[in-house]
Amino acid sequence: MKKLLDLLSAELEAAFKQAGYDEKYGRVTISNRPDLCEFQCNGAMSAVKEYKKAPIMIANDVAKALDGNKVFAEVSAVNPGFLNLKLSADYLAEYLQSMATDERYGLDRTKTPLSIMVDFGGPNVAKPLHVGHLRSAIIGESVKRICRYMGHNVVGDIHLGDWGLQMGLIITELKKRQPGLPYFDDSFTGEYPEEAPFTISELEEIYPTASAKSKEDEEYKEEAMNATFLLQRGHRGYMALWNHIMKVSKADLKKNYANLNVEFDLWKGESDVQKYIPDMVKRLKDEGYAHESEGALVIDVKKETDTKEIPPCMILKSDGASLYTTTDLATLVERRKDFDPNMIVYVVDKRQDLHFVQVFRCAKKVGIIGEDVDLNFIGFGTMNGKDGKPFKTREGGVMRLENLLADIDEEMYHKITDNHEVEEKEARATAKIVALAAVKYGDLSNQATKDYVFDIDKFTSFEGNTGPYILYTIVRIKSILNKYNEQKHTMTPAIAAPASECEKALLLSIAQFNAVVESAYEELAPHKICAFIYELANAFNRFYHETKILTEENEKQQASWIAVLELTKNVLETSIDLLGFSAPERM
Ligand code: ARG
Repeated sequence: MKKLLDLLSAELEAAFKQAGYDEKYGRVTISNRPDLCEFQCNGAMSAVKEYKKAPIMIANDVAKALDGNKVFAEVSAVNPGFLNLKLSADYLAEYLQSMATDERYGLDRTKTPLSIMVDFGGPNVAKPLHVGHLRSAIIGESVKRICRYMGHNVVGDIHLGDWGLQMGLIITELKKRQPGLPYFDDSFTGEYPEEAPFTISELEEIYPTASAKSKEDEEYKEEAMNATFLLQRGHRGYMALWNHIMKVSKADLKKNYANLNVEFDLWKGESDVQKYIPDMVKRLKDEGYAHESEGALVIDVKKETDTKEIPPCMILKSDGASLYTTTDLATLVERRKDFDPNMIVYVVDKRQDLHFVQVFRCAKKVGIIGEDVDLNFIGFGTMNGKDGKPFKTREGGVMRLENLLADIDEEMYHKITDNHEVEEKEARATAKIVALAAVKYGDLSNQATKDYVFDIDKFTSFEGNTGPYILYTIVRIKSILNKYNEQKHTMTPAIAAPASECEKALLLSIAQFNAVVESAYEELAPHKICAFIYELANAFNRFYHETKILTEENEKQQASWIAVLELTKNVLETSIDLLGFSAPERM
């Protein structure tokens, strides 16, 4: 279906033309004075230059050309030259009815499906997930869903950090604790045990211990670096340990991400692309892209137009070791080979901005990826505590994601059981659903690049711009629909002309759905969907308070309202699905 603003613009364009002006001035926008009109066209003001006439004269001519037009209930030319527009109630109802009968509620699937990859999550194996990983998971999941809903072919890749020093640290610590294990016996040639020599909780304790030791003890650090080096050279015992670490850690990650309703199509990691590095580096040298600088191998990526210093992209350190950059370049080699993507979206902390500028520039300069591939970096801001500093536990430590979510579940559980009697099991299940909405909406309703304050009290509130408020609205609609369906009815619900101002406002709000999702996709901006559903929920609640739906005696009127409710619910539920959460049946 066409977007409402495009349909209205077409009417205005025709009117400009009919009045003797260029049709390009006929663009319609949503009114920024809702007290005066619903839509407006400011084209007469821009046409002044070309026609050398007072804008109000042009506006008057266009208004005259729109005389008798069925789309608008009101067209007025007002000083200095605005065209204020109100939609005809019948026209709006017709548009909404077409939305209601369309399984995608008026949003056309793209005609040119692209191959899109979303690189998000990015956890480091064997380190517990903390709040820093939350934003990438939440934003990435939503971006993935939005792209997919538009009709593109989308692959989400977790891009595990599974090849770095943390592996060497764990191996080193393990060797100190259990030196007798066969992995450390170089003369061992048999089969290594199938069972890992640690559990996930042990693993999660081993890493921070090892990391702390390495910061204090130079020798320990050397050892860990050497273990990393040996692992990366394929040391048999260390590889076997690495496989154990991966298996135990991945199982735990899967559980954690499932709790967040976050899913990856690919569980690839840095380790998967190491095999591309030697050829890649050789080519970069042979073709003269890379040069030596203080022993390291680098590629220049600065441009004349740069306003700040962009240092060269380092490919190999002086000891021949590869770096984070090298791995991301090698990942692009593999992604091009496997998926030939048109676009890749990286959802990573904005402090990694420079890294991605270097990687993107380098990849295009040396032809690892085509010039036309859209490499996109969504750099998100920090999640802060109420004190404005990065979110911490009460004791000041790094907050584990699991604990954070458990806290919010608990908070939500109390809110739900404080209000009314609910069966324990249902209350727990509902609390989980609502808590997830609280966290995700709290995050996504902010522009991704901005820092935001993680405020549990605010996020879990049933009032205001929050996830629970949106869910509450959906549940309210479901409850009315259920009650209606328990009664006998002969009418088939169909949306008729709105009977009140607040109903018209609701319909106008719903009608924005296709335009909003499209622009959320174009700008990779889930917060636009949040702003839309908040406004929609408000418009619905205003309508609900002013309208007696279930006791309405005019059956036709009632059936029309039921159709409006049905559509409101469907649009809200589709929208929250794009944000990555869902609504319970009751709450
Ligand atoms: N593991 C990295 C980190 O913790 C994030 C990975 C982001 N993705 C990427 N392709 N570099 O900082």
